[in-house]
Amino acid sequence: MRTPIIAGNWKMYKTPQEAVEFVQALKEPLSTLTAAERVVCPAFVALPAVAEALQGTDIAVGAQDVHWEDEGAYTGQVAPGMLAGLVKYVIIGHSETRQYQGVTDEMVNWKIKAALRHGLRPIVAVGESLEINEAGQTREFVDRQIRAAFDGVPASDLERIVIAYEPIWAIGTGKSASGEQANTIIGAIRETLAELYGEAPAEAMRIQYGGSVKPENMAEFMSQPHIDGALVGGASLKVDSFVALVRIAIEAKGLR
Ligand code: 13P
Repeated sequence: MRTPIIAGNWKMYKTPQEAVEFVQALKEPLSTLTAAERVVCPAFVALPAVAEALQGTDIAVGAQDVHWEDEGAYTGQVAPGMLAGLVKYVIIGHSETRQYQGVTDEMVNWKIKAALRHGLRPIVAVGESLEINEAGQTREFVDRQIRAAFDGVPASDLERIVIAYEPIWAIGTGKSASGEQANTIIGAIRETLAELYGEAPAEAMRIQYGGSVKPENMAEFMSQPHIDGALVGGASLKVDSFVALVRIAIEAKGLR
């Protein structure tokens, strides 16, 4: 059984103070919803304060990106060693970093290896544009992204990695994929992983859906057999909806 994982990607929202107030409010309602793993991913500047505020809880903290080098002249970047000990997870390859910061498949691969080297757990984001989707090339595109991302990643590291399938056209648009569509692509991702690593590790890997996930459509996604959780933007910014997402995930998986 794969433990569901719900991660809030706060993107460029919430100051450190707002982030701490938010997680303080989250602690109590999430304290009974332990059947799913819960992760918040604030901006870099809020990470130390949020990590401190969540000490002693089982709510995990994640960063939204990481550089692939251990150190160097990379203005504006954050090295994996700087995040080690501070966060458990790090989102890698989010489409917004691919689109606005020129992150390539190759860089995604380097970032994953760097994160693993420093004991971080990557949440690897993949997903196609509207154009690719409408051309019927989603499977091939995502297959290539996965193969590039995992190039040279040993099977022994797989259990520390989560994948997030986020179709770009569904992010922040209010237009989500259907549960069935998402399940089909996530099933295809599992087939790619099975080719690369074998059936058992592919079955054991957790794969999230992301893109306009909200309490109203969460059950549709979480009742799909291949979908193990969600990477959530907008709906993770409010305490009530974040808590509702976690509760719905646990119920849909029959975990209480
Ligand atoms: P929304 O949930 O706001 O569509 O964002 C999805 C996302 O990009 C999470 O990483």
